[in-house]
Amino acid sequence: MKRHLILGAVLLIGLACYAEYLIADDKEAIKAFDTVQKVFQSPRCQNCHIPDDSPLQFDAGIPHAMNVVRGMDGKGAAGLPCVTCHAESNPPASYGPHTPPGAPHWSLPPASHKMAWIGLPADKLCAMIKDRSSNGDRDFAALIKHVSDDKLVLWGWNPGEGRAPVPVPHDVFVTQFKLWAQAGGPCPLVGG
Ligand code: HEC
Ligand code: HEC
Repeated sequence: MKRHLILGAVLLIGLACYAEYLIADDKEAIKAFDTVQKVFQSPRCQNCHIPDDSPLQFDAGIPHAMNVVRGMDGKGAAGLPCVTCHAESNPPASYGPHTPPGAPHWSLPPASHKMAWIGLPADKLCAMIKDRSSNGDRDFAALIKHVSDDKLVLWGWNPGEGRAPVPVPHDVFVTQFKLWAQAGGPCPLVGG
């Protein structure tokens, strides 16, 4: 009888430690998500990740000049596709500011999954990033690959004359994104 009690107590302590360990792990991952949010909601990223049909410009996020619109596939209206003005790389710095920036597949996300996270609170942003019905059916591995190598993402750190890059170094961002993703993508509670 006594032995059973001791065994039970040992088990309980073990479980408590394990729970504590899990919570600590989640805490670290949720802290890492702060950095993810800072990057995703920086002007260079959120100007394309918008609910309406016009991409945004500048740090102030004002609607794109010349009535540029998304189109069904995100590549612009049939008569005025993004590639009319946006090339596969930025124009040379000697052209000065206000030239159209460039990167491969320059476009908005398609109308069917807009991935519009501009202005979302942390919990909603977190849920959207990992929701496969809204993120182009990407699992965590695919998301890590996207934020590590995608050319539109990398453009954020080389945005062309007159634009400030994303305010967190790319390698720091990827490390924090992985920390969050590999813990299963726990989301912060907002207002709770
Ligand atoms: C020029 C517009 C543009 C810019 C700038 C841009 N994106 Fe995107 N983003 C897209 C498009 C288009 C897709 C959809 C790609 C697809 O589904 O194949 C996308 C998809 C994504 C996805 C995958 C979908 C999801 O919901 O998880 C992530 C993550 C992402 N972008 C992050 C970023 C980050 C971080 C930045 C800034 C460093 C950024 N994007 C800048 C256009 C842009
Ligand atoms: C008629 C030419 C033209 C077309 C078409 C065009 N753009 Fe632009 N875009 C520009 C110019 C020029 C700038 C730079 C404006 C400046 O810096 O003053 C720009 C800037 C941008 C920026 C601002 C980047 C930032 O963070 O400030 C985004 C995002 C963008 N365009 C997305 C798009 C998308 C997406 C499409 C297609 C749906 C598109 N553009 C179509 C000319 C164009």
